[in-house]
Amino acid sequence: MLDHFDIIAPIYDKILDHSDHGTLRKLLQLPENGLLLDAGGGTGRVSSKFQSAGLKVIISDLSLKMLSQVDKKNSLIPVAAHAECLPFADNTFDRIVVVDALHHFCSQQESLANLIRVLKPGGRMVIEEPDIRRLPARLIAIAEKILLMRSHFLSPPEIEKILYESGVKAFVEDENDFASWVVAEK
Ligand SMILES: C[S@@+](CC[C@H](N)C(=O)[O-])C[C@H]1O[C@@H](n2cnc3c(N)ncnc32)[C@H](O)[C@@H]1O
Repeated sequence: MLDHFDIIAPIYDKILDHSDHGTLRKLLQLPENGLLLDAGGGTGRVSSKFQSAGLKVIISDLSLKMLSQVDKKNSLIPVAAHAECLPFADNTFDRIVVVDALHHFCSQQESLANLIRVLKPGGRMVIEEPDIRRLPARLIAIAEKILLMRSHFLSPPEIEKILYESGVKAFVEDENDFASWVVAEK
């Protein structure tokens, strides 16, 4: 069955922002070499900007239509997978990024547990989400409910608490009126 992202996949990169994701880049502290996982990464819109010679970028997503757009971008590796059941060994990734996707996952708790599992000790994960404590994000949540998207938004402190209870260090970084970032260090 086609889902919302399958339908908008061909135009997704055109309708979304083209910012340089400065806060995300700063918080990720990308190494020169290693493995970056972009979970729920869709078309690779965000992590395609983080490519470098030594950094291998894996984009996992459950929408094949979104992933089919990744193929057009050099050296990004698309992998079809649920965030709740990632087909990677424990302690694989140096960095993980999750942008505007956590609230779309079927289970936030299970996907966070899986993401922590595949993060290397010493690795870092950054989750960017619309901040549900703020009006613009609440309006998005209402719109997604009307569109029957089954989104489930957690506030940044709720995400931080789940991460902390899973045994990793976590902190919240708020910097604009719409999004917040939660950083986890394993
Ligand atoms: C709003 S898009 C964000 C895509 C990308 N992170 C970006 O910012 O451009 C949300 C993505 O999450 C994916 N998604 C939803 N549920 C998922 C799940 N359980 N596991 C993996 N990906 C999922 C969707 O297919 C979609 O590509």
